[in-house]
Amino acid sequence: MSLSFPVDTVLAILQRFPRPADELEQQALARLKTLDAQEADSLWEQLCLRVLLNPVYLEALWPDACSQHPEMRQLIQRLKERLWVPDAREQAENDSAQWVLEQGDAGQHDTLMQRLLSYLKNGNPNGGAPFAFLARYYTWRDVVVTQLVAPERTELTDRIFGLLDMQNKQWGKPYCGGYAYQGYARVGIAGVKPTEERLEGYGFMPWLNGDMSVLEIGCNNGFMAIELAGRAGIVDAVEYNPFLVEIGRITAEALALDNVSFQVADFSNWMPARRYDVVLSFANHCTIDGNLAVEFESFVAKLWGLTQDGGWLLFESHNVFGAGTGAAGDDGDLDRKFDIMECYFELQDSKMTRAFVPSHDIDKLFVVLRRRPQVLASVQRSMNLGEARKRYAYQGEPFSC
Ligand SMILES: C[S@@+](CC[C@H](N)C(=O)[O-])C[C@H]1O[C@@H](n2cnc3c(N)ncnc32)[C@H](O)[C@@H]1O
Repeated sequence: MSLSFPVDTVLAILQRFPRPADELEQQALARLKTLDAQEADSLWEQLCLRVLLNPVYLEALWPDACSQHPEMRQLIQRLKERLWVPDAREQAENDSAQWVLEQGDAGQHDTLMQRLLSYLKNGNPNGGAPFAFLARYYTWRDVVVTQLVAPERTELTDRIFGLLDMQNKQWGKPYCGGYAYQGYARVGIAGVKPTEERLEGYGFMPWLNGDMSVLEIGCNNGFMAIELAGRAGIVDAVEYNPFLVEIGRITAEALALDNVSFQVADFSNWMPARRYDVVLSFANHCTIDGNLAVEFESFVAKLWGLTQDGGWLLFESHNVFGAGTGAAGDDGDLDRKFDIMECYFELQDSKMTRAFVPSHDIDKLFVVLRRRPQVLASVQRSMNLGEARKRYAYQGEPFSC
């Protein structure tokens, strides 16, 4: 088999929506610029085999071709069916070698690779359904980055995309067009919200220590919980969507972490077995998927009950620029919500944090709070949303103690 790596096109694609803080991506860019031709072509061949013979990637990267062309459907069916038949997987791959050779040729008009790269290089990220472009863009980015500089991560990445695919088929309302909401540079997943960079912005990581217990509510695919477990004593994470929880579990296992545990649960019914020093509620108090819609005071009261005496609540808003009508995802009424919140927790500080994919996501308000020893019946609220949503830095040093 002989295929040629379209280095310039792949570089141009990676540079369209760069993640300068992502070390693996930087390594991938550097490697692309220094690859010799033979090495490059061998890598391209491996990459083509990896995506063109994997039904999950075929459907994620070429959704239209897969749904419109009967021969693609047949190929996907054949690959899925033969996967488990002894020796048949190899046979299927051999049978498809010529097809991979044809479709992996990005220099030929109308091959799968030529169409994909042209779309990712020139396509409108805001065209079509929300995240339709970006889901494909970042899936491709993750495949390329892991193939180039983290071959030891390709198996994990492929399993993660396999779980996202199951989620998309079996779960009603996936976030981000079915792509990963939380990213994790450490394992080669860009995500819509890159965990390490996001945590850097909140500024509390250096303050966490091995004596602290942490609870994350609605932990999504668990990457943030896993990163926190690198500093905290223990991290418990609760999430309703079982496919996302499984991603967290396999990633924690791959990283050999044993102080993070995941529970599939509806937070409204979940009964905690303990209280925590730090509780995280990030974009979770009324979710746009409609799966969490408890009355705000009930939600806050439960957070108070889950937090240790003197413990901390780290809270991220939904859309603080919303109309404040009380709809899911609308925190334009955060002042009213904080009339309640501050009866339970004392406001320490807050700052706005920027969205990583601005036209698809919004800047969020991050709030640091401390549990009150007793719940107050009423309170003079400190939160002033009009002021808070203009400020992109803390006023003080909330994590200095
Ligand atoms: C907007 S996302 C925020 C994810 C995560 N907290 C973050 O900020 O990265 C909301 C998350 O809450 C989860 N979720 C929705 N309803 C839930 C429920 N009833 N119990 C637990 N998690 C829920 C969703 O599956 C999703 O992962």
